[in-house]
Amino acid sequence: MDDITALILDDHHRFRLGFARLDDAQSPQELEAIWTPLALHLDIHADAEEEEILYPHLLTDAGGDDAEEETDDAIRDHNKIRDGIDEASNHPVGSDAWWKGVWKARTENSEHLAEEEDEVLPDFRKHASKELRLELGARWLRFFGEHPQGKGLSFADKDPAKYIEENS
Ligand SMILES: [Fe+2]
Ligand SMILES: [Fe+2]
Repeated sequence: MDDITALILDDHHRFRLGFARLDDAQSPQELEAIWTPLALHLDIHADAEEEEILYPHLLTDAGGDDAEEETDDAIRDHNKIRDGIDEASNHPVGSDAWWKGVWKARTENSEHLAEEEDEVLPDFRKHASKELRLELGARWLRFFGEHPQGKGLSFADKDPAKYIEENS
């Protein structure tokens, strides 16, 4: 079955495609058709990583010396991405204020993906057992099934220090 790090990379690729598609949209309807599922996917992805799937393991049985710092960065980045999404949701699709929120989500996301792909995932691959990677891959797929359209998830910002303390 699927390794968790491959599934995460699949999502990251979809995020990049989604943001690029916004560049080609010709109307607010087209923008909305691209943005609504993209924003929801970004929110669910961050929650999935923060819940029991990626970062709690980086902090305990599958991380290196930099696990706390990497987790701190990630929680802050996830908060900023969520803030951009929230900001956009308060304005009409296609308006300048909407684009401002979308752009915040896009640029914060690009920075975050680079850190996750160049720091977090390499460390995780180095320290996680093959069994854990496969087990978490299955858990990841179940997570999306258990939360259709994000049902039951809060998408709330988290305090990085508190998160690290609770999950270490
Ligand atoms: Fe990610
Ligand atoms: Fe992330």
